[in-house]
Amino acid sequence: MDYKSLYQASIADPYNFWAEQASEFISWEQTWDRVYDYDFTKGEIHWYTKAKLNVCNNCVDRHAAVEPERQALLWQGNEPTDSKQYTYQELLDNVCKTANVLKELGVKKGDRVCLYMPMIPETIFTMLACARIGAVHSVVFAGFSPEALRARIIDCGSEIVVTADQGLRGEKIIPLKENVDTAIAELQQVKSVLVVKRTGAQVPFNHGRDHDYSTLIAKVNPSCDYAIMDAEDPLFILYTSGSTGKPKGVVHSSGGYITYASFSFHYVFNYQPQEIYWCTADAGWITGHTYLVYGPLAVGATILVYEGVPTYPDSSRLWDIVDQYKVNIFYTAPTLIRALMGHGDRYLKTTSRDSLRILGTVGEPINPAAWEWYYKQVGNERCPIVDTWWQTETGGILLSPIPNVTKLKPGSATTPLFGIEPVILDQDGKEITGEGEGYLAFKASWPGQMQSIFNDHKRFIEVYFSKFPGYYLSGDAAKRDADGYYWITGRTDDVLNVSGHRIGTAEVESALVKHQDVAEAAVVGCKDAVTGEAIYAFIQLMDDVEAIPNLKDELAALVRQEIGGFAVPKHMQFTAELPKTRSGKIMRRILRKIANGDTESLGDISTLGNQEVVSRLLQQQQDD
Ligand code: WT7
Repeated sequence: MDYKSLYQASIADPYNFWAEQASEFISWEQTWDRVYDYDFTKGEIHWYTKAKLNVCNNCVDRHAAVEPERQALLWQGNEPTDSKQYTYQELLDNVCKTANVLKELGVKKGDRVCLYMPMIPETIFTMLACARIGAVHSVVFAGFSPEALRARIIDCGSEIVVTADQGLRGEKIIPLKENVDTAIAELQQVKSVLVVKRTGAQVPFNHGRDHDYSTLIAKVNPSCDYAIMDAEDPLFILYTSGSTGKPKGVVHSSGGYITYASFSFHYVFNYQPQEIYWCTADAGWITGHTYLVYGPLAVGATILVYEGVPTYPDSSRLWDIVDQYKVNIFYTAPTLIRALMGHGDRYLKTTSRDSLRILGTVGEPINPAAWEWYYKQVGNERCPIVDTWWQTETGGILLSPIPNVTKLKPGSATTPLFGIEPVILDQDGKEITGEGEGYLAFKASWPGQMQSIFNDHKRFIEVYFSKFPGYYLSGDAAKRDADGYYWITGRTDDVLNVSGHRIGTAEVESALVKHQDVAEAAVVGCKDAVTGEAIYAFIQLMDDVEAIPNLKDELAALVRQEIGGFAVPKHMQFTAELPKTRSGKIMRRILRKIANGDTESLGDISTLGNQEVVSRLLQQQQDD
């Protein structure tokens, strides 16, 4: 493959390029009127206008029709002895029944359906069932607290929540149903809760509101026609953190999204018939949408879904699964690679991993040491690593090597996929040509681009299109080297990336200040060897309040309650005062340096209102 000339052709004539991709990858009920119609200055994104399709048909029916016995879904439970398999025909049967259950509970086209699920086959059945009947799913990661779940249910206005009795992750039991009960307590909006039995434990059951999935599934009609949807009908909403305010409901379309999911899956993972593809992402994140479910199923791949954690029963679990299922393509996050690398090579010794052909990473930059370990130890120096850069908002991968085509550079997401036009902008919004560093933005739309923020199109325009009109602004900073390769250098906003989880500093701060003893909090990121970034909170207590010994525990519990365990700060430092400018703005730049122990050059602190604050913070750190 000649990447350069194909890339040039794709951006020279994007209109025909994207028309061809849509025809090649997707079965349409009716073709489009225009391939695209977008205007970044207005935040208007339209793809395949007036075209009709059904995403579930594309992911399931059309494959079941030609090869019903093809394996669609291999499920590996938390316990090594627990597994299930589904052919495309079986997947279709399950999706149809689930769709009929949703219908019976009153779900209609356009309704939002909230999922709060463990990694079990029913999660995927439910997502596809929504797509089948034209309902819009909003999957909330099961690591979120009831409080966070409640906020998302309210924001998207869903009247139904699909959950399980409990979830299993290693030795841990996650009380999903109980969490849902807490989340929707006194919330009239939610009319029904559909409960899948996972562990079979006794959980509270509210007759009239709650429904048992297995009981309903046994009674419904096994067939269900798919709804004919508009390419621009929303397929799902997925909440993600921004620098300010509450999480944003990112809205993705049906036609453009599924085109981009299959197109990018095809080029990045080079899937070959019969291969086993495994993405370790949870269905609660965008990777779990695009590259666990939609992209691979749209091209008819066999996917592996794993319920548990990488360290249970021990740290060789992932490699055991790779050998057992003869996994060919493996896609995961750098934080997981670093964690397993830290546990030592002995966990690799019992497996060969000979089936592996392509390795992938996503979510954060991968440091060269982890890259080398992944390449040499896991992949035995045989498998290219695709370092894929993208975001919840982009719907699919925008920057990535093409395996066996693009020359790899450890730590770089390399070059754009076909049809993608990245730019690096300077402070004034001018495009930097050649080598340089600045704001990573995109000057042309692509079919997977988000359509809007649910119920807040104004915010959509403001966040992504207002700072530099005419571009989609990613929020990341990047460097382009002499070969035209892109290197992500971090975020340009107040968003942290902890173990590939995106967390807004403002969300953590507002959780902390809910404590009666806390006057103010400032949260920044600091480097962490395993999680990439870790959360560092500077906390100003109320006057006359002493930092009692268990205050940190209370604050941790509060963050766990408001957001989820993954957002609990790793470091908390109490202070009598936060460094502020004379006009009262917290000087995060300085706090970031203090948190990172980078205190040689604190930069210009002349605008600091009270110079002493900084020296006291530093002194305190040394004392700890
Ligand atoms: C942010 C998006 C896309 C799925 C997972 C995260 C960071 C993502 C890479 C990469 C360096 C990366 C960026 C981006 N990021 N992939 N390969 N190299 N950084 O989705 O939660 O929307 O987060 O993750 O900072 O903006 P997300």
